[in-house]
Amino acid sequence: MRRSHYAGLISETHVGSKVVLEGWVNRRRDLGGLIFIDLRDREGLVQVVVNPGSPAYKNAERVRSEWVLRVEGSVRARPADQINPKLKSGKIEVAAELLEVLSEAKTPPFPLDTAWRGEAEAEINEDLRLKYRFLDLRRKEMQEKLGLRHRTTKAIWDFLDNEGFIQVETPFLTRSTPEGARDYLVPFRQEPGSFYALPQSPQLFKQMLMVAGLDRYFQIARCFRDEDLRKDRQPDFTQLDIEMSFADQEDILSLNERLMSHVFKQALGHELPLPFPRMTYAEAMNKYGSDKPDLRFGLEFADLTGLFKEGQFRAFAGAEAVKALVVPRAVSRKDIDRLEAVAKRQQAAGLSWARVEESGFSGGIAKFLEPIRDRVLPLTGAKPGDTLLFVAGPWKTAVDALGTVRLELGEMLGLIGEGYKFLWVVDFPLLEFDQEKKTYTYMHHPFTSPNPGDLPLLDTDPGRVRALAYDLVLNGSEVGGGSIRIHRQELQTKMFRVLGISDEEAKEKFGFFLEALSFGAPPHGGIAWGLDRLLAMMSGASSIREVIAFPKNKEGRDPLTGAPSRVSREQLAELGLSTGVRDG
Ligand code: AMO
Repeated sequence: MRRSHYAGLISETHVGSKVVLEGWVNRRRDLGGLIFIDLRDREGLVQVVVNPGSPAYKNAERVRSEWVLRVEGSVRARPADQINPKLKSGKIEVAAELLEVLSEAKTPPFPLDTAWRGEAEAEINEDLRLKYRFLDLRRKEMQEKLGLRHRTTKAIWDFLDNEGFIQVETPFLTRSTPEGARDYLVPFRQEPGSFYALPQSPQLFKQMLMVAGLDRYFQIARCFRDEDLRKDRQPDFTQLDIEMSFADQEDILSLNERLMSHVFKQALGHELPLPFPRMTYAEAMNKYGSDKPDLRFGLEFADLTGLFKEGQFRAFAGAEAVKALVVPRAVSRKDIDRLEAVAKRQQAAGLSWARVEESGFSGGIAKFLEPIRDRVLPLTGAKPGDTLLFVAGPWKTAVDALGTVRLELGEMLGLIGEGYKFLWVVDFPLLEFDQEKKTYTYMHHPFTSPNPGDLPLLDTDPGRVRALAYDLVLNGSEVGGGSIRIHRQELQTKMFRVLGISDEEAKEKFGFFLEALSFGAPPHGGIAWGLDRLLAMMSGASSIREVIAFPKNKEGRDPLTGAPSRVSREQLAELGLSTGVRDG
């Protein structure tokens, strides 16, 4: 037997027992001849005491932080004045009889011991952490995050297995699956010029599994997308991918709510109130200026478009939309300037404002509001002392801009409350007009079903067709998205045409899939959760990099392995590639 217990699990119940422990030195202290070693493993730490008379003493004198030890000894209660309430093992200690050094360690580039001792950690440079990720993962916080990730995926497996879902793995080396990002390509050595694409999602495979009669599928799937990185995006990331046959939108939303509630209960011990609230895309945009509104705070918009239509204020009278926010306090000129810069970054022409006084308005556009005071106040709900902020312009620009101002205000005024605010956003538009390309593009992906009620509009006014698509939003972050799919080949072919994809191109790229749809495809639909995003929210992490064992940094590089890296000329030649970069 190598070891008898985890160091971190020894407690009062073991007093009097002999134990064999193996782990790392969290810290060594020498006090009046006695040597104290905090021995640590993934479960926590225990204090080992070495007496000058013990055969363990000679080795104990030598050890340093992060060395790996084997300790044999007996558990005893600590004297009352040495009890440490911050530790699970704080009431006991292990008196060492033997101490063997299993591995020595260089001095780590940053402290690993602090949080294990129950103390607050200083921030460490992220690239340094990623370069030494094998050490960074020894930190308590990271061990806890990986533990949460494990409990979450376990809860997902348990729940879905119980509901009759079958886990299937789909290929990494495949053809492009369009989700709106660039593909990562992998050259095919046997045929220079041909490439596999890494999947942006398992979308087409899961749909073909429905054609295959699997009925209920899931996968914790790795996806690859070459897109601009943000704190909630990684080039390779993980989805919980789900697809169901003979299910409608209600079935899918309700299954996912129950699954989420199971996950929160099992992994966090947290009860989520069900059902989650729902909001249409139009409502979310009109009230919060976002298709993923953060409902941890209010600040809903008021719509004043109609009110200004016939008014004197030219800049507002001609606008497609005038939206207003009531800030429940006086906002300084400096802050208004800052908020205006935020609005302008979203293409707004400006941010208008006025203060509400006991009698009338002051500042900004006060004089244009005075004549319509009787209507502005009830429409906005503003009271004396409040500040009104306005954006006017094309509808999308106005709501987007005020939406960003709203988020900025939430932060600035400390309005963002605690807790987990889930929301379904439903009834997304099927298509979006791409001003540059002068064609319609899909909002979700090209396999999403139009709302059957809007089908006639597909020929006459495609921009107004609603999709049977839904997003799952948590605290202002999109943690999942899915749809009911097109299951008839004719409609899928038509959809490609609406998207400006010729029949030839559709056949070339998606012929296999159209073929699958022509062999009796069941009605089906599904969803994918961004598992990393969800875990970041569950653990309160500042970025998804914190919940991934070996992530890329902000520039998409891995400081640990040095990937991506140059390859040899021979390797390129073998693949029939030339990069144009010298010494490639
Ligand atoms: P979608 O593209 O919306 O849908 O992706 C689903 C969820 O995956 C997460 N996500 C990401 N997480 C981290 N890094 C990224 N680069 C990244 N991109 C997306 C988001 C998002 O909500 N096949 C469809 C799903 C379906 O229709 O069933 C799909 O992939 O949380």
